[in-house]
Amino acid sequence: MFFTGFECIACAATQPSSFKGFTCPACGGNLTVTYDYDGLKNRVGKERLVTFGRPDLFRYAPLLPLERPGLASPLRIGWTPLYPAPRLGTPLGLKHLYLKDDGLNPSASFKDRAGAVALVRARETGARVIAGASTGNAGSSMACLAASVGMPCVIFVPEKAPPAKIAQLLVFGARVMAVRGTYDDAFDLCMKVCAERGWFNRNTGHNPFTREGKKTCSFEICEQLGWHAPDRVVVATGDGNILSGIWKGMKDLHAVGLIDRLPKIDCAQSEKSDAVTRAVQNVRQDHPRGAAVDWKRVAVEPVKATTLADSISVDAPRDGLAAVRAVIESGGEVCTVPDEEILSAIPELARGAGVFAEPAAACAWAVTRRLAMSGRIQPEEKVVCLITGNGLKDAGAARKAAGEPTLIKPTVEAALAVLADL
Ligand SMILES: Cc1ncc(COP(=O)(O)O)c(C=O)c1O
Ligand SMILES: [Zn+2]
Repeated sequence: MFFTGFECIACAATQPSSFKGFTCPACGGNLTVTYDYDGLKNRVGKERLVTFGRPDLFRYAPLLPLERPGLASPLRIGWTPLYPAPRLGTPLGLKHLYLKDDGLNPSASFKDRAGAVALVRARETGARVIAGASTGNAGSSMACLAASVGMPCVIFVPEKAPPAKIAQLLVFGARVMAVRGTYDDAFDLCMKVCAERGWFNRNTGHNPFTREGKKTCSFEICEQLGWHAPDRVVVATGDGNILSGIWKGMKDLHAVGLIDRLPKIDCAQSEKSDAVTRAVQNVRQDHPRGAAVDWKRVAVEPVKATTLADSISVDAPRDGLAAVRAVIESGGEVCTVPDEEILSAIPELARGAGVFAEPAAACAWAVTRRLAMSGRIQPEEKVVCLITGNGLKDAGAARKAAGEPTLIKPTVEAALAVLADL
Protein backbone atom coordinates (compact mmCIF):
# COMPACT_ATOMS: atom_id res chain seq x y z
CA MET A 1 0.00 0.00 0.00
CA PHE A 2 1.33 3.39 -1.02
CA PHE A 3 -1.74 5.28 0.33
CA THR A 4 -0.44 7.67 3.02
CA GLY A 5 -3.42 9.86 3.96
CA PHE A 6 -5.37 12.95 3.02
CA GLU A 7 -4.69 16.65 2.40
CA CYS A 8 -7.22 19.48 2.45
CA ILE A 9 -7.67 21.22 -0.89
CA ALA A 10 -8.44 24.55 0.81
CA CYS A 11 -6.09 24.77 3.85
CA ALA A 12 -3.57 21.94 3.18
CA ALA A 13 -4.07 20.34 6.63
CA THR A 14 -3.17 16.63 6.47
CA GLN A 15 -4.70 13.49 7.94
CA PRO A 16 -3.22 9.97 8.24
CA SER A 17 -4.54 7.05 6.20
CA SER A 18 -6.33 5.79 9.33
CA PHE A 19 -8.61 8.91 9.21
CA LYS A 20 -12.18 7.71 8.73
CA GLY A 21 -13.87 11.10 8.14
CA PHE A 22 -14.56 12.53 4.70
CA THR A 23 -13.86 16.28 4.94
CA CYS A 24 -11.17 18.45 6.57
CA PRO A 25 -11.65 18.59 10.37
CA ALA A 26 -9.91 22.00 10.39
CA CYS A 27 -11.92 23.91 7.79
CA GLY A 28 -14.55 21.57 6.32
CA GLY A 29 -12.87 21.60 2.89
CA ASN A 30 -12.75 18.62 0.53
CA LEU A 31 -9.82 16.24 0.89
CA THR A 32 -7.45 14.81 -1.67
CA VAL A 33 -5.74 11.44 -1.17
CA THR A 34 -1.95 11.30 -0.85
CA TYR A 35 0.53 8.52 -1.67
CA ASP A 36 4.17 7.64 -1.15
CA TYR A 37 5.10 8.76 -4.65
CA ASP A 38 8.85 8.39 -4.09
CA GLY A 39 8.41 4.82 -2.89
CA LEU A 40 6.49 4.00 -6.04
CA LYS A 41 8.94 5.85 -8.26
CA ASN A 42 11.70 3.56 -7.07
CA ARG A 43 9.92 0.61 -8.62
CA VAL A 44 11.19 -0.05 -12.12
CA GLY A 45 9.22 0.27 -15.37
CA LYS A 46 5.52 0.60 -15.84
CA GLU A 47 5.02 -2.37 -13.54
CA ARG A 48 5.41 0.19 -10.76
CA LEU A 49 1.80 1.04 -11.46
CA VAL A 50 0.13 -1.60 -13.57
CA THR A 51 -0.75 -4.89 -11.95
CA PHE A 52 -2.42 -7.34 -14.23
CA GLY A 53 -4.75 -8.89 -11.69
CA ARG A 54 -7.77 -7.32 -13.39
CA PRO A 55 -8.48 -6.05 -16.90
CA ASP A 56 -10.06 -2.79 -15.69
CA LEU A 57 -9.30 0.24 -13.52
CA PHE A 58 -8.26 -1.96 -10.62
CA ARG A 59 -5.11 -2.76 -12.62
CA TYR A 60 -3.79 0.50 -11.11
CA ALA A 61 -4.01 -0.85 -7.54
CA PRO A 62 -0.73 0.74 -6.28
CA LEU A 63 -2.24 4.21 -6.81
CA LEU A 64 -5.64 3.43 -5.30
CA PRO A 65 -6.41 4.04 -1.62
CA LEU A 66 -7.62 0.51 -0.98
CA GLU A 67 -6.53 -2.10 1.49
CA ARG A 68 -8.66 -4.92 0.17
CA PRO A 69 -9.16 -4.58 -3.60
CA GLY A 70 -10.60 -8.10 -3.46
CA LEU A 71 -13.82 -6.45 -2.22
CA ALA A 72 -14.32 -4.74 -5.58
CA SER A 73 -17.34 -5.29 -7.79
CA PRO A 74 -16.78 -8.11 -10.27
CA LEU A 75 -18.05 -5.87 -13.10
CA ARG A 76 -15.53 -4.51 -15.60
CA ILE A 77 -15.15 -0.82 -14.82
CA GLY A 78 -13.05 1.52 -16.91
CA TRP A 79 -10.48 0.51 -19.54
CA THR A 80 -12.78 2.20 -22.03
CA PRO A 81 -11.67 2.85 -25.62
CA LEU A 82 -9.75 5.93 -26.77
CA TYR A 83 -10.75 6.50 -30.40
CA PRO A 84 -8.94 8.75 -32.86
CA ALA A 85 -11.63 10.98 -34.42
CA PRO A 86 -10.20 12.39 -37.65
CA ARG A 87 -13.55 13.10 -39.31
CA LEU A 88 -14.45 15.39 -36.42
CA GLY A 89 -10.99 16.89 -35.97
CA THR A 90 -9.82 17.53 -39.52
CA PRO A 91 -12.52 20.08 -40.53
CA LEU A 92 -11.53 22.08 -37.42
CA GLY A 93 -7.82 21.81 -38.21
CA LEU A 94 -7.20 19.45 -35.26
CA LYS A 95 -4.66 16.84 -36.27
CA HIS A 96 -4.79 14.68 -33.15
CA LEU A 97 -8.28 14.51 -31.71
CA TYR A 98 -9.37 11.55 -29.57
CA LEU A 99 -12.64 10.58 -27.90
CA LYS A 100 -12.49 8.63 -24.65
CA ASP A 101 -15.80 6.77 -24.60
CA ASP A 102 -16.76 6.31 -20.98
CA GLY A 103 -20.36 5.73 -21.95
CA LEU A 104 -19.21 2.11 -22.34
CA ASN A 105 -18.95 1.51 -18.60
CA PRO A 106 -21.34 -0.98 -16.91
CA SER A 107 -24.01 1.60 -16.07
CA ALA A 108 -23.15 3.64 -19.20
CA SER A 109 -21.37 6.58 -17.58
CA PHE A 110 -18.02 7.76 -16.29
CA LYS A 111 -19.47 7.65 -12.76
CA ASP A 112 -18.77 3.93 -12.51
CA ARG A 113 -15.14 4.83 -11.86
CA ALA A 114 -16.12 6.75 -8.74
CA GLY A 115 -18.61 4.18 -7.53
CA ALA A 116 -16.09 1.36 -8.00
CA VAL A 117 -13.60 2.83 -5.55
CA ALA A 118 -16.24 4.19 -3.16
CA LEU A 119 -17.83 0.75 -2.95
CA VAL A 120 -14.59 -0.93 -1.88
CA ARG A 121 -14.04 1.75 0.77
CA ALA A 122 -17.60 1.28 2.02
CA ARG A 123 -17.09 -2.47 2.32
CA GLU A 124 -13.65 -2.10 3.92
CA THR A 125 -15.12 0.16 6.60
CA GLY A 126 -17.99 -2.25 7.30
CA ALA A 127 -20.79 -0.07 5.89
CA ARG A 128 -24.25 -1.59 6.00
CA VAL A 129 -25.86 0.80 3.53
CA ILE A 130 -24.38 3.01 0.84
CA ALA A 131 -26.23 6.23 -0.02
CA GLY A 132 -25.75 9.09 -2.42
CA ALA A 133 -27.30 12.07 -4.13
CA SER A 134 -27.11 12.32 -7.86
CA THR A 135 -28.27 14.18 -10.94
CA GLY A 136 -28.85 10.63 -12.19
CA ASN A 137 -25.62 9.00 -13.33
CA ALA A 138 -23.73 8.82 -10.04
CA GLY A 139 -26.82 7.21 -8.52
CA SER A 140 -27.52 4.75 -11.31
CA SER A 141 -23.87 3.80 -11.21
CA MET A 142 -23.85 3.30 -7.45
CA ALA A 143 -27.06 1.28 -7.70
CA CYS A 144 -25.52 -0.94 -10.38
CA LEU A 145 -22.29 -1.55 -8.50
CA ALA A 146 -24.04 -2.08 -5.16
CA ALA A 147 -26.32 -4.63 -6.84
CA SER A 148 -23.28 -6.45 -8.18
CA VAL A 149 -22.19 -7.27 -4.60
CA GLY A 150 -25.59 -7.28 -2.87
CA MET A 151 -25.06 -4.05 -0.88
CA PRO A 152 -28.21 -2.07 0.06
CA CYS A 153 -28.24 1.32 -1.69
CA VAL A 154 -30.29 4.50 -1.21
CA ILE A 155 -30.25 7.19 -3.89
CA PHE A 156 -31.63 10.74 -3.77
CA VAL A 157 -32.32 12.25 -7.20
CA PRO A 158 -34.22 15.29 -8.43
CA GLU A 159 -37.70 14.08 -9.46
CA LYS A 160 -37.09 15.49 -12.96
CA ALA A 161 -34.05 13.29 -13.70
CA PRO A 162 -34.37 11.66 -17.18
CA PRO A 163 -36.62 8.55 -17.14
CA ALA A 164 -33.84 6.21 -18.31
CA LYS A 165 -31.70 7.10 -15.31
CA ILE A 166 -34.62 6.58 -12.91
CA ALA A 167 -35.35 3.28 -14.65
CA GLN A 168 -31.76 2.17 -14.08
CA LEU A 169 -31.98 3.06 -10.39
CA LEU A 170 -35.17 1.07 -9.97
CA VAL A 171 -34.03 -1.88 -12.03
CA PHE A 172 -30.84 -2.26 -9.99
CA GLY A 173 -32.98 -2.36 -6.86
CA ALA A 174 -31.89 0.86 -5.15
CA ARG A 175 -34.27 2.61 -2.76
CA VAL A 176 -35.00 5.63 -4.93
CA MET A 177 -35.92 8.92 -3.28
CA ALA A 178 -37.20 11.24 -6.04
CA VAL A 179 -36.80 14.60 -4.36
CA ARG A 180 -39.23 17.41 -5.17
CA GLY A 181 -36.45 19.90 -5.82
CA THR A 182 -33.06 20.26 -7.49
CA TYR A 183 -29.89 18.17 -7.33
CA ASP A 184 -28.69 20.59 -4.67
CA ASP A 185 -31.74 19.81 -2.53
CA ALA A 186 -31.15 16.07 -3.01
CA PHE A 187 -27.50 16.49 -2.03
CA ASP A 188 -28.28 18.34 1.21
CA LEU A 189 -30.99 15.84 2.13
CA CYS A 190 -28.66 12.89 1.59
CA MET A 191 -26.04 14.51 3.83
CA LYS A 192 -28.57 14.86 6.64
CA VAL A 193 -30.00 11.34 6.33
CA CYS A 194 -26.51 9.79 6.26
CA ALA A 195 -25.49 11.78 9.34
CA GLU A 196 -28.64 10.55 11.07
CA ARG A 197 -28.21 6.87 10.15
CA GLY A 198 -24.42 6.55 9.89
CA TRP A 199 -24.63 5.29 6.29
CA PHE A 200 -21.67 5.43 3.94
CA ASN A 201 -22.19 8.64 1.97
CA ARG A 202 -20.92 8.55 -1.60
CA ASN A 203 -21.81 12.21 -2.28
CA THR A 204 -19.61 13.76 -4.94
CA GLY A 205 -16.83 16.01 -3.65
CA HIS A 206 -17.67 15.34 -0.02
CA ASN A 207 -16.36 11.77 -0.37
CA PRO A 208 -12.64 11.86 -1.30
CA PHE A 209 -12.75 8.36 -2.80
CA THR A 210 -14.87 9.36 -5.78
CA ARG A 211 -12.06 11.51 -7.16
CA GLU A 212 -9.65 8.60 -6.74
CA GLY A 213 -11.84 6.45 -8.95
CA LYS A 214 -12.24 9.17 -11.54
CA LYS A 215 -8.51 9.81 -11.81
CA THR A 216 -8.03 6.33 -13.32
CA CYS A 217 -9.35 7.73 -16.60
CA SER A 218 -6.14 9.76 -16.86
CA PHE A 219 -4.05 6.66 -16.19
CA GLU A 220 -5.82 4.93 -19.05
CA ILE A 221 -5.52 7.87 -21.46
CA CYS A 222 -1.76 8.02 -20.89
CA GLU A 223 -1.33 4.25 -21.08
CA GLN A 224 -3.37 4.17 -24.30
CA LEU A 225 -1.13 6.90 -25.73
CA GLY A 226 1.98 4.80 -24.98
CA TRP A 227 2.65 6.44 -21.60
CA HIS A 228 2.54 9.93 -23.03
CA ALA A 229 0.30 12.70 -21.74
CA PRO A 230 -2.00 14.42 -24.22
CA ASP A 231 -1.77 18.22 -24.51
CA ARG A 232 -5.26 18.74 -23.16
CA VAL A 233 -8.34 16.97 -21.89
CA VAL A 234 -11.73 18.64 -22.30
CA VAL A 235 -14.11 17.80 -19.46
CA ALA A 236 -17.85 18.51 -19.08
CA THR A 237 -18.27 20.04 -15.65
CA GLY A 238 -21.02 20.35 -13.06
CA ASP A 239 -19.74 19.62 -9.54
CA GLY A 240 -16.18 19.64 -10.86
CA ASN A 241 -15.26 16.22 -9.48
CA ILE A 242 -14.52 14.64 -12.86
CA LEU A 243 -12.35 17.57 -13.83
CA SER A 244 -10.42 17.54 -10.55
CA GLY A 245 -10.12 13.76 -10.84
CA ILE A 246 -8.63 13.96 -14.32
CA TRP A 247 -6.06 16.48 -13.04
CA LYS A 248 -5.29 14.35 -9.96
CA GLY A 249 -4.64 11.33 -12.18
CA MET A 250 -2.24 13.28 -14.37
CA LYS A 251 -0.41 14.67 -11.34
CA ASP A 252 -0.14 11.20 -9.78
CA LEU A 253 1.37 9.79 -12.98
CA HIS A 254 3.79 12.69 -13.20
CA ALA A 255 4.79 12.26 -9.54
CA VAL A 256 5.76 8.62 -10.10
CA GLY A 257 7.62 9.44 -13.30
CA LEU A 258 5.34 7.67 -15.77
CA ILE A 259 4.68 10.85 -17.81
CA ASP A 260 7.16 13.65 -18.30
CA ARG A 261 4.80 16.60 -18.64
CA LEU A 262 1.31 17.61 -17.54
CA PRO A 263 -1.61 18.40 -19.86
CA LYS A 264 -3.99 21.32 -19.65
CA ILE A 265 -7.45 20.48 -18.35
CA ASP A 266 -10.26 22.46 -20.01
CA CYS A 267 -13.58 23.07 -18.31
CA ALA A 268 -16.68 22.69 -20.54
CA GLN A 269 -19.98 24.06 -19.22
CA SER A 270 -23.39 25.18 -20.37
CA GLU A 271 -24.04 28.92 -20.31
CA LYS A 272 -26.92 27.94 -18.04
CA SER A 273 -24.75 26.23 -15.40
CA ASP A 274 -21.41 28.00 -15.29
CA ALA A 275 -20.32 28.35 -11.65
CA VAL A 276 -16.84 26.86 -12.15
CA THR A 277 -16.21 28.95 -15.26
CA ARG A 278 -17.07 32.15 -13.43
CA ALA A 279 -14.90 31.24 -10.46
CA VAL A 280 -11.88 30.52 -12.70
CA GLN A 281 -12.38 33.83 -14.49
CA ASN A 282 -12.54 35.65 -11.15
CA VAL A 283 -9.39 34.01 -9.82
CA ARG A 284 -7.53 34.85 -13.03
CA GLN A 285 -8.72 38.45 -12.87
CA ASP A 286 -7.66 38.80 -9.23
CA HIS A 287 -4.28 37.15 -9.81
CA PRO A 288 -2.74 38.65 -12.92
CA ARG A 289 0.44 37.13 -14.34
CA GLY A 290 0.07 33.88 -12.42
CA ALA A 291 0.40 35.39 -8.91
CA ALA A 292 0.13 32.76 -6.13
CA VAL A 293 -3.43 32.02 -5.02
CA ASP A 294 -4.44 31.55 -1.38
CA TRP A 295 -6.98 28.78 -1.95
CA LYS A 296 -8.54 29.23 1.48
CA ARG A 297 -9.83 32.58 0.31
CA VAL A 298 -11.32 31.45 -3.00
CA ALA A 299 -15.10 31.08 -3.05
CA VAL A 300 -17.03 29.34 -5.82
CA GLU A 301 -20.30 31.27 -5.90
CA PRO A 302 -23.47 29.30 -6.72
CA VAL A 303 -25.56 30.04 -9.82
CA LYS A 304 -29.16 29.24 -10.69
CA ALA A 305 -28.61 26.32 -13.08
CA THR A 306 -31.23 25.63 -15.76
CA THR A 307 -29.39 23.72 -18.52
CA LEU A 308 -31.09 20.82 -20.32
CA ALA A 309 -27.85 18.89 -19.86
CA ASP A 310 -29.14 17.47 -16.58
CA SER A 311 -25.89 15.84 -15.48
CA ILE A 312 -24.10 19.18 -15.38
CA SER A 313 -27.00 21.23 -14.04
CA VAL A 314 -25.56 22.28 -10.68
CA ASP A 315 -26.15 25.39 -8.59
CA ALA A 316 -23.33 24.97 -6.07
CA PRO A 317 -20.46 22.81 -7.40
CA ARG A 318 -19.60 20.33 -4.67
CA ASP A 319 -16.00 19.96 -5.77
CA GLY A 320 -15.77 23.47 -7.17
CA LEU A 321 -12.58 24.57 -5.46
CA ALA A 322 -10.68 21.47 -6.58
CA ALA A 323 -11.93 22.03 -10.14
CA VAL A 324 -10.94 25.69 -10.15
CA ARG A 325 -7.48 24.74 -8.86
CA ALA A 326 -7.16 22.08 -11.55
CA VAL A 327 -7.94 24.49 -14.39
CA ILE A 328 -5.69 27.24 -13.02
CA GLU A 329 -2.77 24.99 -12.08
CA SER A 330 -2.88 23.15 -15.40
CA GLY A 331 -3.29 26.35 -17.44
CA GLY A 332 -6.53 25.10 -18.99
CA GLU A 333 -9.33 27.00 -20.67
CA VAL A 334 -12.85 27.61 -19.46
CA CYS A 335 -15.59 27.85 -22.05
CA THR A 336 -19.39 27.80 -22.01
CA VAL A 337 -21.81 26.99 -24.82
CA PRO A 338 -25.54 27.60 -25.28
CA ASP A 339 -27.82 24.59 -24.86
CA GLU A 340 -28.62 24.57 -28.60
CA GLU A 341 -24.95 23.85 -29.31
CA ILE A 342 -24.97 21.04 -26.76
CA LEU A 343 -27.96 19.47 -28.49
CA SER A 344 -26.52 19.79 -31.99
CA ALA A 345 -23.25 18.27 -30.76
CA ILE A 346 -25.08 14.97 -30.10
CA PRO A 347 -25.75 13.99 -33.74
CA GLU A 348 -22.48 15.58 -34.80
CA LEU A 349 -20.50 13.24 -32.53
CA ALA A 350 -22.65 10.28 -33.47
CA ARG A 351 -22.33 10.88 -37.22
CA GLY A 352 -18.71 12.00 -37.13
CA ALA A 353 -17.34 9.24 -34.94
CA GLY A 354 -20.06 6.68 -34.19
CA VAL A 355 -20.16 7.70 -30.52
CA PHE A 356 -23.54 8.39 -28.92
CA ALA A 357 -23.33 10.89 -26.05
CA GLU A 358 -25.88 12.22 -23.59
CA PRO A 359 -26.20 16.03 -23.49
CA ALA A 360 -23.65 16.62 -20.70
CA ALA A 361 -21.08 14.52 -22.54
CA ALA A 362 -21.83 16.26 -25.83
CA CYS A 363 -21.07 19.55 -24.07
CA ALA A 364 -17.41 18.52 -24.01
CA TRP A 365 -17.49 18.19 -27.79
CA ALA A 366 -19.39 21.47 -28.29
CA VAL A 367 -16.67 23.21 -26.25
CA THR A 368 -13.80 21.42 -28.01
CA ARG A 369 -15.22 22.65 -31.31
CA ARG A 370 -15.52 26.22 -30.00
CA LEU A 371 -12.01 26.25 -28.60
CA ALA A 372 -10.61 24.99 -31.90
CA MET A 373 -12.60 27.48 -33.97
CA SER A 374 -11.47 30.39 -31.81
CA GLY A 375 -7.81 29.35 -31.96
CA ARG A 376 -7.60 28.43 -28.30
CA ILE A 377 -6.54 24.91 -29.29
CA GLN A 378 -3.62 24.65 -31.70
CA PRO A 379 -3.70 22.27 -34.70
CA GLU A 380 -0.77 20.14 -33.50
CA GLU A 381 -2.12 19.60 -30.00
CA LYS A 382 -3.12 16.11 -28.88
CA VAL A 383 -6.65 16.67 -27.56
CA VAL A 384 -8.81 14.19 -25.65
CA CYS A 385 -12.52 14.98 -25.51
CA LEU A 386 -14.04 13.01 -22.65
CA ILE A 387 -17.39 11.37 -23.45
CA THR A 388 -18.81 10.93 -19.98
CA GLY A 389 -22.23 9.38 -20.55
CA ASN A 390 -24.07 7.30 -23.15
CA GLY A 391 -26.75 8.89 -25.34
CA LEU A 392 -29.36 6.29 -24.42
CA LYS A 393 -29.43 7.89 -20.95
CA ASP A 394 -31.52 10.69 -22.42
CA ALA A 395 -33.13 9.50 -25.65
CA GLY A 396 -35.59 12.40 -25.48
CA ALA A 397 -32.84 15.00 -25.84
CA ALA A 398 -31.25 12.98 -28.63
CA ARG A 399 -34.54 12.79 -30.54
CA LYS A 400 -34.92 16.56 -30.31
CA ALA A 401 -31.50 16.99 -31.89
CA ALA A 402 -31.59 14.20 -34.44
CA GLY A 403 -34.71 15.03 -36.47
CA GLU A 404 -37.57 12.76 -37.53
CA PRO A 405 -37.59 9.48 -39.51
CA THR A 406 -39.29 9.43 -42.90
CA LEU A 407 -42.76 7.93 -42.64
CA ILE A 408 -43.60 5.86 -45.74
CA LYS A 409 -46.03 3.24 -47.02
CA PRO A 410 -44.58 -0.32 -46.92
CA THR A 411 -43.70 -0.41 -50.62
CA VAL A 412 -40.40 -0.53 -52.50
CA GLU A 413 -41.49 2.44 -54.63
CA ALA A 414 -42.13 4.58 -51.59
CA ALA A 415 -38.74 3.68 -50.08
CA LEU A 416 -36.81 4.25 -53.32
CA ALA A 417 -38.52 7.57 -53.96
CA VAL A 418 -37.12 8.84 -50.69
CA LEU A 419 -33.69 7.21 -51.18
CA ALA A 420 -33.17 8.32 -54.77
CA ASP A 421 -29.97 10.16 -53.87
CA LEU A 422 -28.18 7.00 -52.65
C1 LIG B 1 -22.38 12.40 -18.14
C2 LIG B 1 -21.75 13.35 -17.17
N1 LIG B 1 -20.92 14.28 -17.61
C3 LIG B 1 -20.34 15.17 -16.79
C4 LIG B 1 -20.65 15.18 -15.45
C5 LIG B 1 -20.03 16.22 -14.59
O1 LIG B 1 -19.24 15.74 -13.54
P1 LIG B 1 -18.99 16.62 -12.27
O2 LIG B 1 -20.34 16.85 -11.64
O3 LIG B 1 -18.06 15.87 -11.43
O4 LIG B 1 -18.41 17.92 -12.75
C6 LIG B 1 -21.54 14.25 -14.93
C7 LIG B 1 -21.92 14.25 -13.50
O5 LIG B 1 -23.00 13.80 -13.14
C8 LIG B 1 -22.10 13.30 -15.81
O6 LIG B 1 -22.96 12.37 -15.37
ZN1 LIG C 1 -8.97 22.40 5.52
